[in-house]
This record gives sequence, structure tokens and C-alpha cells, in this order.
Amino acid sequence: MKKILEVRGLSKIHGRGCPQCFDSTGPEADTNICPHCGSVVAAHNVSLDLHAGEILGIMGESGSGKSTVVKTLFFDDAPTAGEAIFFDGPQGGQQWDMFALNAARQRWLRNHRFGMVYQNPHLGLNFNVSAGGNIAERLLMSDISHYGEIRERARQLLARTEVLVDRMDESPKKFSGGMQQRVQIAKALATRPPLLYLDEVTTGLDLSVQARILDLILEIQQELHTAMIVVTHDLGVIRLLAGRTLVMKYGRVIESGLTDQILEDPQHAYTQRLVASAL
Ligand SMILES: Nc1ncnc2c1ncn2[C@@H]1O[C@H](COP(=O)(O)OP(=O)(O)OP(=O)(O)O)[C@@H](O)[C@H]1O
Ligand SMILES: [Mg+2]
Ligand SMILES: [Zn+2]
Repeated sequence: MKKILEVRGLSKIHGRGCPQCFDSTGPEADTNICPHCGSVVAAHNVSLDLHAGEILGIMGESGSGKSTVVKTLFFDDAPTAGEAIFFDGPQGGQQWDMFALNAARQRWLRNHRFGMVYQNPHLGLNFNVSAGGNIAERLLMSDISHYGEIRERARQLLARTEVLVDRMDESPKKFSGGMQQRVQIAKALATRPPLLYLDEVTTGLDLSVQARILDLILEIQQELHTAMIVVTHDLGVIRLLAGRTLVMKYGRVIESGLTDQILEDPQHAYTQRLVASAL
């Protein structure tokens, strides 16, 4: 399989940082707050590879740094250190050194190559425009500019994510939580990105709604071969979606590998507790 993303040594410190930050935080120190300078080490030395069409899970408790990883990769937040290479084009021949790019290039990647679905739909959707308008906004960034064509494509995307097309002219603020997530997914897919980030997309939804959205995500992966990074604290989501998984704690990756192996035979005591508590 073609590699699409390679991340090496990704770190993010909130605060001024000091030379002891990394040695004084992490699973052994049992904190992500540096006792010397008070900075938060949200992520340290995170490395991962993602292949075209693959779903990689990132699991861990609240505050472990899961969102930090996808936020930096979607350029919502700048990393303190590290490198990420995005392999673009059908053969992956074009390589983007993501954090070295200027802001305009980063925006271009964000709008054309990546998609993001946030836990909080307010972050991913504009509630002042209609559901269809949200998708149109993203299509306008691509090469489609004909009104009728945009509307038709928005309609198709909403139909694909099982949002009632009759409601495409309504604001998503009137929609249920599950429906808002579907609109976010439709919007993220508008530019047919090869890489999608999903951050706790089903957290807080009813179980039956969760199950249908997870099915939709799997269908999309199979139809469009979209590579995805799925962030969740929910082991059930990981089990269902992710072929490989990273387990994070206090900003560090403490375990990684095939999801089945991690769930069957977790190596790290922390992962063992997580798995046991979900049984
Ligand atoms: N802007 C910020 N300023 C200071 N600390 C921050 C900031 N953003 C995140 N953090 C801290 O960084 C750490 C990692 O946060 P992150 O949001 O990545 O965790 P998470 O694993 O996604 O947690 P959750 O499951 O609650 O979403 C947390 O301790 C968080 O409080
Ligand atoms: Mg988070
Ligand atoms: Zn420090």
C-alpha cells in the first residue's frame, strides 16, 4: 500500500517550555505538566505512518494528546517540533513537508487534500448558512464554480450521508446531533480528500445513532478509499473502524500496532486496564 502520511517526532508544548519539560512529564512522571515551568506537554515525540485507504485509530484518556495530534496535522495548531510528510498525487510522487510550508500552501492542503470532522459541530459547520451552503462553501474552494453544479453536488453528498435532501436549505443548527455530524462528514468529503481526520465524531450521541454513523464511515472508506485518522476514547469505535491503533498517555504514544493484537494482548499496563474496563 502507498504511504500517504509520515509523521516523525511530533511535539506540542503549551507554555514557554524549559529544558526539563520532556524529561519531567509523560507516563512515568504521571503528568503532562512540567513541574519546573508549568507548561503543558500536550504531545511529545509522536510518530506514525498512514497508508492510502487505511484507518488508524488514536486512543487514550482525556488529555492524553489525541486531538493535539490531528489538530497539528490539520494546521489548526502549530507543533513545537516534528515533521510531517504528506505524499500527494496518485503515485504519491509529490511530497509536502507540511510544517515547513507557508500559510497559503497549508490552507490549500487543508481545503483540497484533508477533511476534518470535529466532535463539536460548531467547529466544523457554519450555523449561519444552510446545510447545503456549508458544503457549497467548501466546493467553491475547489474548481467547481457553477451554481447548479455546486447545488447538485451538495445534494448528492447530503444524500450519500443520509441527510434528508429536503432539508438542505435549513441551517444545521436545527438538526439533531447525529444529523449535524452527517453534514460535517458530507462537507469534509466535498473535495474528495484522500485524508480525513475524525475527532470523537460519535461521542455523546445515542448508541443507535453512533452505530449508523460508524457504518457510514466504513462505507465511505470502502467506496472512496479515504485514509482516516480516527481519534476516540471509545474502544468500541477503535475495534470497529481501525486496522491499526496508537495508544496515548500524557502526550506519548505508549503502544501501537494492529488493533486486534492490542485488544487481545495489550502490552502496556495502562492499555491492559483500558481493555479490561471495556469488557
Ligand atoms: N490551548 C491550550 N492551552 C493549554 N493547554 C492545552 C491547550 N490545548 C490543549 N491543552 C492541554 O493539552 C493536553 C492534551 O489535550 P488534547 O486536547 O490533545 O487531549 P485529548 O486526548 O484530545 O483529550 P479529550 O479526550 O478530552 O479530547 C491536555 O492536558 C489539555 O488540557
Ligand atoms: Mg480531544
Ligand atoms: Zn518545563
